[in-house]
Amino acid sequence: MHYEIHKFDIIDSTMNYAKQLAENGCENFTVVAAKTQKNGRGRLERKWLSETGGLYFTIVLKPKIAIKKVFVYNFAASSAIAETLKYLFKINAKLKWPNDVHISGKKICGILSEIKIKENAINYVNIGIGLNVNNLIFSTEINSVSVKQLTGKEESTTKILETFLINFQKKIGPKKYNKIISEWKKNNITVGSFVTVKTANKIIKGTAIDIDRSGALVVITDNFTIKKISHGDCFHFNGQQPLIKPKQSEKKG
Ligand code: BTN
Repeated sequence: MHYEIHKFDIIDSTMNYAKQLAENGCENFTVVAAKTQKNGRGRLERKWLSETGGLYFTIVLKPKIAIKKVFVYNFAASSAIAETLKYLFKINAKLKWPNDVHISGKKICGILSEIKIKENAINYVNIGIGLNVNNLIFSTEINSVSVKQLTGKEESTTKILETFLINFQKKIGPKKYNKIISEWKKNNITVGSFVTVKTANKIIKGTAIDIDRSGALVVITDNFTIKKISHGDCFHFNGQQPLIKPKQSEKKG
């Protein structure tokens, strides 16, 4: 598939530029990449520190799918990042609900998505990805790691981006929709963990037992109530015994 990449040495945020392009009618799968961002944005209104050496980019997608299915692009993106790290560097990356990529409990990549709905349909969905590659200072999160720390040398952000874009395109291709969540689940570390999830107005604690067809995290609480959570900040407490062991099929692969 042909796609256009807009490259910058420095930008405010690739999310903001991608939004302008999308509003001005750019093509599906337009990419905005920058070496550094002055105002990188993270999930839940956080800042995303974007030092030189990291990989920061946003993809504008204009899918013709139902609004309720749009969440799959976040899952496809985090899966494709994990596959890319495995393919290029043999790094064993794992997926943490909702959108993070982790290596041995440390965050290496975060994903932020923004959607515009127009006349009851998806106008565009922008997927922003921040990957720690050669940068020394990471996001505001203490528990982070970079590709360079794992491979012991500087790595090419261009090569990572190109490989990712091929993997991501394959994942979201026609008729692939149904496989995205099941593939994500095979490589995730959240299902089976004891979790605390902070949503906008409550805190839910329990054992994560599944990700449902809508991408929501299914948690069984201490009083055996099932909760489905579609948005939130998820913390794992793996020293704690989960109430229910996950099915083998959900943990392996
Ligand atoms: C998170 O909070 O985990 C998501 C971080 C997403 C950061 C990326 S970097 C490229 C794009 N531009 C931004 O301003 N944010 C996203």
